[in-house]
Amino acid sequence: MQIFKEIAPLRAFLSKNSDSASLGFVPTMGALHAGHISLIKASRHENKFTACSIFVNPAQFNNANDLEKYPRTLDQDLEMLNKAGCDVVFVPEAMEMYETEPLIKFDFGELDKVLEGKFRPGHFSGVALVVSKLFHLIKPTVAYFGQKDFQQFKIIERLVNELKFDLKLKAMPILREADGLAMSSRNSRLNSKQRTDAVVFYRALTEARKLLKAGESISSAKETVAKICERVESVKLEYFELAECNNLKAVENVTDNTVLLIAGFVGETRLIDNLLMTE
Ligand code: PAF
Repeated sequence: MQIFKEIAPLRAFLSKNSDSASLGFVPTMGALHAGHISLIKASRHENKFTACSIFVNPAQFNNANDLEKYPRTLDQDLEMLNKAGCDVVFVPEAMEMYETEPLIKFDFGELDKVLEGKFRPGHFSGVALVVSKLFHLIKPTVAYFGQKDFQQFKIIERLVNELKFDLKLKAMPILREADGLAMSSRNSRLNSKQRTDAVVFYRALTEARKLLKAGESISSAKETVAKICERVESVKLEYFELAECNNLKAVENVTDNTVLLIAGFVGETRLIDNLLMTE
């Protein structure tokens, strides 16, 4: 596995060694877990060459404390990637990606004003910026993302369509722990009590979906979710919303195209999760 910290040698290596017709790419912020490795495996299965990036992107953090506390486990990440058969890893420093303070801002209209966008202003502009840079550098044929970041995937889809990036996007299913907690790099910040409590978001989502399937109203599902979360002291619900899968517009009637999305804190750690009505 080749590891690059700088853009120029990465570009030179890729243009000589990778198969430009079959290059899978998995962008990450490190602190890798089985969910990330499932993306690497999907890429390896479907492409001749697999690249991964590890970069904790400052532009997508609207909270300095969150950026500072974001877990960093580079040695372990590299070991996991090597074992999973990744061919190339790009691990830039912030200066390599942002030589100067970036001026470009992205605006995705309603898509980035709702859900996460409401609570993390500027977050998706930072994601779109770094993902654009990485796509330009790596020139993948397919890029893989986890479905846990549902809104992020919709925004990247829009980015790729509007800017005509010549690549395919794939959203891969959420991987869950045995109790249902969605795998996330942030889970490593939870202490053991918080780790047990954190499953409340998945429980609330599954309970809400059960009620909705049984014909209960959206407002009654929302009340139930709020009550389930209130019962756990370390948990603070930020939002539970139902949205149309394609455009993330809030729904008034539940259909097979509805996604249930939740976000909140367990202690100081912010977690998100989602469930499709049809899952
Ligand atoms: O999903 C993530 O880990 C990040 O938002 C991404 C896509 C790697 C951009 O920094």
